[in-house]
Amino acid sequence: MALAQRKPHAEPAVVLGAAPGKVILFGEHAVVYGQPALGVALGRGVRVSVRKGSGKVEAKLAEGVRSPELAASATPEKLVKAALGARAEELDVEIEIEVPPLAGLGTSAALAIAVLRAKDALDDVTEPAEVMLDRAMEVENLAHGASSGLDPAICLYGGVVEFQRRETKGKNKLQVRRVTPALSFHLVIGVHGTHGGTKDRIRGVAMVREQMPQAFDASIKALGQISRAGSKALIKGDLEVAGRALDLAHGVLSGLGLVGDAIEHHVRNARRAGALGAKMSGAGGSGGAFFALAPDFQAAQRVKEAIEAAGAMSWVETAAE
Ligand code: MEV
Repeated sequence: MALAQRKPHAEPAVVLGAAPGKVILFGEHAVVYGQPALGVALGRGVRVSVRKGSGKVEAKLAEGVRSPELAASATPEKLVKAALGARAEELDVEIEIEVPPLAGLGTSAALAIAVLRAKDALDDVTEPAEVMLDRAMEVENLAHGASSGLDPAICLYGGVVEFQRRETKGKNKLQVRRVTPALSFHLVIGVHGTHGGTKDRIRGVAMVREQMPQAFDASIKALGQISRAGSKALIKGDLEVAGRALDLAHGVLSGLGLVGDAIEHHVRNARRAGALGAKMSGAGGSGGAFFALAPDFQAAQRVKEAIEAAGAMSWVETAAE
């Protein structure tokens, strides 16, 4: 592993850090059991400014972001202190959150990376991506428990990201690759309330494994196969097949107890409004994030309007070729 490069420097008065949020297209939960996943970094995320001070951490939602739970949002103070380490008490941090927190859109991973980037700018340090990923996972685990590393990998690498965690001889090996789709595609993001907490949802899924080990393994393998087929289709521009794969993945995740009534309703509404496929995204629970794949930009606008008319916050993200 390469070492950080340190240069002599005068410390700036204020440094900024930023990282995007993410949406998981395929593979959430199954990724914890070694299956492949695909995610897309969002055009919005978390911004921080860090200056000399006394350890104050202030978080606010950006204009237009609706969330019932900023106060509890991914325990920002705990994450910030962990990311700053020994310097935490001599710095003040202001956080602006541009996506609804606790919905499954990667705010804790984005916060961890934004603060680490600001800290590295202060220390005038540049680190290779894999070192940053290890650090971000360590910090993010405070919010997620034993996370796979998928969220920080998407938020760190940006764009469309393939991810897989394999365990060999008790050691985790992460494969992270940024991929370029053959054609641009449009995702309509929706958020309704908050998810059930990543740690708890991972625990809930593990309980299904205890109850029915073989059926559970088959479901996880199915999610892995859907992820492979759906990702391949999306990357080569076959949106029809990618949409069908999203619906299929949603069905299996729903069977694992990860989709509440409100999200089920929104996903069906998005399909009726013209989406090629729609699915929950992230940890899941009674509420949280979902998204729809649209055939083109105009259709994406119509799906967004339908989602908003049904009471959820929504916006369109375009993954560029
Ligand atoms: C959470 O965004 C994704 C999960 O698969 C957990 C993880 O991979 O760490 C549920």
